[in-house]
Amino acid sequence: MVQTKVLTLGRSVLNDKQFEISLARAATKKLGVVGISGSGKTHNSAVLVEQFIRQGVPVVIFDPVGRWWDLGISADGKGKGLPIAVIGGQRGQIELTPEMGGAIARYVAEMRVPTVIDLSQMRSKSHWRQVVADFGNTLFEINHAPVHLVIEEAPEFVPQRVMESVAGVYGAMDKLIRIGRNKGIGMTLIAQRPQMINKDALSQVNALIVMRLTDPGSIDAARDWLDAQGAESDLVNTFIGRLPALADGTGLVLSPAWLKTFDCVQFHRRETFHYDPEADEDAFTATGNIAQAVDTDSLQKAFAKFIPAKTQLTKSSRVEAAIVERAERLQKENDELRTALETQQADTITDEDVQQQIALAVNERDAQIAKLTGALAAINEQIKTALGGESAAESASLPSHMASANRVTALVQKASEKLDKTEKKILETLGDLYPMFPSGVRVEQLAVESRYSANGGAFGGALARLAKRRLIVRASGMIRFNPDLLR
Ligand SMILES: Nc1ncnc2c1ncn2[C@@H]1O[C@H](COP(=O)(O)OP(=O)(O)OP(=O)(O)O)[C@@H](O)[C@H]1O
Ligand SMILES: [Mg+2]
Repeated sequence: MVQTKVLTLGRSVLNDKQFEISLARAATKKLGVVGISGSGKTHNSAVLVEQFIRQGVPVVIFDPVGRWWDLGISADGKGKGLPIAVIGGQRGQIELTPEMGGAIARYVAEMRVPTVIDLSQMRSKSHWRQVVADFGNTLFEINHAPVHLVIEEAPEFVPQRVMESVAGVYGAMDKLIRIGRNKGIGMTLIAQRPQMINKDALSQVNALIVMRLTDPGSIDAARDWLDAQGAESDLVNTFIGRLPALADGTGLVLSPAWLKTFDCVQFHRRETFHYDPEADEDAFTATGNIAQAVDTDSLQKAFAKFIPAKTQLTKSSRVEAAIVERAERLQKENDELRTALETQQADTITDEDVQQQIALAVNERDAQIAKLTGALAAINEQIKTALGGESAAESASLPSHMASANRVTALVQKASEKLDKTEKKILETLGDLYPMFPSGVRVEQLAVESRYSANGGAFGGALARLAKRRLIVRASGMIRFNPDLLR
């Protein structure tokens, strides 16, 4: 008897049976995996990916976060996991450059190798988009056998709001999503908030795996998707009601049309290592080598024309490279800031939210400026070294708040002698935060950072005394050093 091949993903919480999907036609389907941070999206997508790879389906993962190399390492972190090619990122076999997308697509279509494309070391999002767009367009032209793509941080490539900078990659992805099936191409889109994925793209998804969701906007988007799929409203209500309380690793598998399934599934643990950046270093350090599907030499040969030879940098080119690198990194951070603000704007905004967001934006700006200042100082330092002298670029050229950071340190030290324990702790904390937030921090943030309760008497009393001594000033919920003392 011919056994049908299945992908075993977990166990149903509803009937305690294994939850399986038939492999037939699964690779070319579209799946969405959504849920709040830490709900288990990456882990459970990895369970799916492992099963695909075991069944011989090449999977290509686009990874802006830089963590999917862990597929190549065994669950205990010590041995080898599934053989994969890793391009780009800190653990990549070869470097990833922005022009490589098309070549990688040709390589995958021909060699059928499971590949992680780690975008995390690329300095700008425009490079991420270029790689994904070129890959997608080329794969669409030449692919003929099943390939499954996994897109982490899908809203970076198929966002709800398609701005000009995203139009190219959106076009490539949209084509794959609508008609990629005819070329053997399926994909899994991963996102924290379903409403950030483009609505048209989401409407094409054949199965939505919904992990824990708590914010009303996300829950509504999941409901809208189900309604659009023609699910019965009683069923929709029952399932949607479970979303905020789902445990880590548990998800609703909703597929009214393709799988004809409404299930609640506790996903199995991965068979490969799950890199957890928050875990204790001792407990979870991966010591094993990544299992290679292709040896590094052949990868290097295949992509030689794209990878720049490592040249010996001269002193001046080193300085130039440092300046460019700083500038590009700042650009990337600004992009991230913009995305973060857009994300917040997309949510329901209450008055309190508005206030918090403004405070946050101001803090972020301060942090950006502090970083910029730090970058300038570092570049100045490099110029000094490169010129071999002391004379260039002294601290006079730094923005004034960096110069006054020294004054803050002196001020805190001097004032501390006369302060009680709580006052001292608060002032020291404000001093520590000063380089990042020169124009002040929110009361709540100061309380958290100095380990007091914002509403407690000890904290409130000490703040009042510090203000009375004219060491700090408070205005509209923000606390800062008395600017008169820093001049
Ligand atoms: N199937 C599972 N069984 C048990 N625990 C799980 C399972 N899936 C995830 N977890 C736990 O949840 C943690 C977070 O999972 P994961 O890294 O997949 O979150 P995520 O949703 O991708 O978060 P982010 O959006 O921040 O990337 C894991 O480190 C693991 O401890
Ligand atoms: Mg994740």
